[in-house]
Amino acid sequence: MINDIEKVYYSEETLREIVERLGKQISEDYKDKNLLLVSVLKGSVIFMADLMRAITVPCAIDFMCVSSYANKTESSGVVKIVKDLDINLEGWDVLIVEDILDSGKTLSYIKKILLSRNPKSLKICTLLDKPERRAVDDVFADYSGAEVPDKFVVGYGLDYDEKYRNLPFIGVLKRDIYE
Ligand code: IMP
Ligand code: MG
Repeated sequence: MINDIEKVYYSEETLREIVERLGKQISEDYKDKNLLLVSVLKGSVIFMADLMRAITVPCAIDFMCVSSYANKTESSGVVKIVKDLDINLEGWDVLIVEDILDSGKTLSYIKKILLSRNPKSLKICTLLDKPERRAVDDVFADYSGAEVPDKFVVGYGLDYDEKYRNLPFIGVLKRDIYE
């Protein structure tokens, strides 16, 4: 598995610092709110598990799963809900927790659906952001852990073809693996 990685982009230590910083900021901003973290499966599970423990104010959690990929490395823009939320969003300050914001097509779709359910507020927290790749203009990260260039990264929840999610760091996948 490790031989498929070109280089480590964010080490475990760096990821800890990033998550710590986001947790502090979110705790400050949501101290008088009714915070519901919505994790978009599966890529954000590890980030979600660490982030919620870095948040010091009360929060609820829920999960949704969408499938969006036309191929293994690119979003199609056509998104299907595979698993929906259990919690009714009315009255909640919803914070979507994502692994990576790439074209933004997936989040653009999720945002529209969740907004139609009348949450008190809706914001986005992404661990990684690839701003160069943005293809929609209605999505930006209210909280962003770190930027990555236009390279395919895996680990810490992010996969290529369902593999590499269990790497504890974020690494750049060797090109010959997906080309
Ligand atoms: P978007 O709709 O193009 O923004 O795609 C977002 C989703 O694509 C993310 O939630 C990831 O699951 C996946 N994705 C985008 N870039 C990468 C990457 O570099 N590595 C792994 N997954 C990625
Ligand atoms: Mg994802």
